[in-house]
Amino acid sequence: MTYKVTSREEQDTIELAQNIESEKFPGMVICLEGDLGSGKTVFTKGFASSLGIDESVTSPTFNIIKEYTSGEMDLYHVDVYRLDGKIEDLGLEEYYQKGGVVIIEWADMIEDYLPEERLEIKIKISEEDEDTRIIFITPHGRVYEDLCEAVL
Ligand SMILES: Nc1ncnc2c1ncn2[C@@H]1O[C@H](COP(=O)(O)OP(=O)(O)OP(=O)(O)O)[C@@H](O)[C@H]1O
Ligand SMILES: [Mg+2]
Repeated sequence: MTYKVTSREEQDTIELAQNIESEKFPGMVICLEGDLGSGKTVFTKGFASSLGIDESVTSPTFNIIKEYTSGEMDLYHVDVYRLDGKIEDLGLEEYYQKGGVVIIEWADMIEDYLPEERLEIKIKISEEDEDTRIIFITPHGRVYEDLCEAVL
């Protein structure tokens, strides 16, 4: 089952992230996909602020993984856009076991390294309106199905 959500402005995407955050659990993995500038980092910032993270969240494009530890639960923000091939060196699997939430931008580029159970979020920029995003959310696994039922 795939849920379709329309976001008409940045704030809608932030609210979606906050709703999902309200159902967070240790080891949660959120995979973000979508064009450049579609709102993956906006989503992550919304999630982080809802967690109570007071550091400013910026895209970890050059460090690939950034850890935020000042919130209710740790957040590991991963952006694999500029990762050329050396995914093994990243030790991404370790982060799935660390007890925090993992959010991965451009997750579709590392499909083989994603956990089977995860929340997949694909963001499309509308062709009709520059601020509108069509967001497709697919839960993989029972916990993520329940989570979607609860908040979507
Ligand atoms: N409905 C919307 N939801 C989210 N962002 C929106 C929306 N409408 C406009 N925007 C704008 O789109 C931009 C999204 O930028 P953001 O950095 O989050 O994209 P991204 O998907 O992370 O891009 P990249 O692939 O470069 O990492 C922001 O400037 C934001 O203000
Ligand atoms: Mg980004």
